[in-house]
Amino acid sequence: MTDDRLSPSGIPVCLTYRPDDAPVDYARDLGDAGRFPFTRGVQPTMYRGRLWTMRQYAGFGTAAETNARFKLLLEAGQTGLSTAFDLPTQMGFDSDSPRALGEVGRVGVAIDTVEDMHALLADLPLDRVSTSMTINATAAILLAMYVVVAEERGIPRASLSGTVQNDILKEYIARGTYVFPPGPSLALTAEMFRFCAAEVPQWNPISISGYHIREAGATAVQELAFTFANGVEYVRQAVRAGLAVDAFAPRLSFFFAAHNDLFEEVAKFRAARRLWARLMRERFGASDASARLRFHTQTGGVTLQAQQPLNNVVRVTVQALAAVLGGTQSLHTNGYDEALALPTAEAATLALRTQQIVAHESGAAQTVDPLAGSYYVEALTNEIEARATELLAQVDDMGGSPEAIARGFFQEEIARSAYEYQLRVERGEAVVVGVNRFGDGSEPPIIPAPDFSSLERAQVGALAEVRARRDASAVRDALGAISDAARPYVEPDAERPPLMPLVIDAVRARASVGEITDALAAVWGHYTPTM
Ligand code: 3HC
Repeated sequence: MTDDRLSPSGIPVCLTYRPDDAPVDYARDLGDAGRFPFTRGVQPTMYRGRLWTMRQYAGFGTAAETNARFKLLLEAGQTGLSTAFDLPTQMGFDSDSPRALGEVGRVGVAIDTVEDMHALLADLPLDRVSTSMTINATAAILLAMYVVVAEERGIPRASLSGTVQNDILKEYIARGTYVFPPGPSLALTAEMFRFCAAEVPQWNPISISGYHIREAGATAVQELAFTFANGVEYVRQAVRAGLAVDAFAPRLSFFFAAHNDLFEEVAKFRAARRLWARLMRERFGASDASARLRFHTQTGGVTLQAQQPLNNVVRVTVQALAAVLGGTQSLHTNGYDEALALPTAEAATLALRTQQIVAHESGAAQTVDPLAGSYYVEALTNEIEARATELLAQVDDMGGSPEAIARGFFQEEIARSAYEYQLRVERGEAVVVGVNRFGDGSEPPIIPAPDFSSLERAQVGALAEVRARRDASAVRDALGAISDAARPYVEPDAERPPLMPLVIDAVRARASVGEITDALAAVWGHYTPTM
């Protein structure tokens, strides 16, 4: 067998695969779907029992504008909500902060107080539809707002379902919307695990993300290894905070990318389930329910091209197929125009239709793990698991994810992969149709950036009205209580008072994202990158 080809992760791809290339013990390495190590899927019936959730990431402008897009997507047939927040909300600034200028409502919806959250969620059946929130450093505040909206609408916490991304480690590594230093941030993550397990049992308190690590240039192998290094750290921190692993781990969730190499991506997802299941059992003695890797997938944003944008419909289709053949629980498909600007309603609808065609016309949802038994896919699954395990061991040898971040290990590895890939594109070794081959000389259209200034004024005015109406002393007391309770979160292993109930009190009093963030930062300080 010749191995003159490499997969995007650098794995030799043979001309022909035969049984000896894919040694697999069915019971040990695969098992039926729904059984440890879950290689074939996390549910015995997979998509015959329930299709994956079609969950399109959406959010821009004011809460009312995003609420309208949510309703359009639900009417078009999507089955879950996914919220994009603007950078001020993600970074803990109010819309009237000088640091928010020019960013209010730009890359996501502007949320200042729980009044905006009421507008965002207006008329949506929160007891029947699950909502994902892509929020990290300020995740505790947005979760508190979701809980208070439900409370004020008479919806019990126990019937709420959804996810907060709440994965601060990957923000230090790849995405950048961090606020506080790792120590208190990780302690707050553990507190959110505790709160959700006790109060909002159907809620997923974290979406441990490989997507942004991959978007930053990581290979599929690095995506798995670095995501699981972070996952292991979150579990370790929560156990260290006194939580029993089986009390929170069944609600851990993950988030990966799907790129263009169909077989490598399918093998990556299968290897991911087996690797995580083995990690959880071997390192933490976790039950099978705690070892199931449930994940959301987004098709690869960086694979979208501005040249010949309609080509992106095909890329997104291949990537969606990879996610489904790989057993995803939830899926976002990118709009074909997103290399140019926020997706138009037409592109967002076509992206959803792509999922519906894969679900109902391609046959891919008919049977569990349809590529199992392929000599190629099983060999790739084995190889990806082996390489990710080896890379994970390197992080372990450094002392775990926080130490590796402090050393810049992840960042350097990702930058190297990104550089090597770009060289292959520039040499024409990695073909990008319409870009370095099959070009037609057409120039990408220039889409003028929308003017957000009137929105900014409206949002600032609305925030001022809330501040004028609320009980200022109640807000002051609530913020003071947060700062007081936050102090022990700086000390490793200190006895920590529950913070979530205090954040909920502040949100109920109409304190803003910026004010609550400042109350925490007054005690915790801000993170400054080490490299
Ligand atoms: N048989 C029986 N029951 C089944 C079943 C089957 N075949 N399939 C599913 N079910 C059940 C499940 O058990 C579950 O019930 P439970 O909650 O009681 O266990 C229910 O049906 C819903 O199924 P899932 O939990 O599998 O699906 P969800 O969609 O609800 O949850 C998730 C999926 C991955 C666990 C969850 O964490 C999730 O929705 N994540 C989404 C994260 C997301 O959207 N992120 C977007 C980020 S955008 C971003 O960051 C990019 C930007 O920065 C550019």
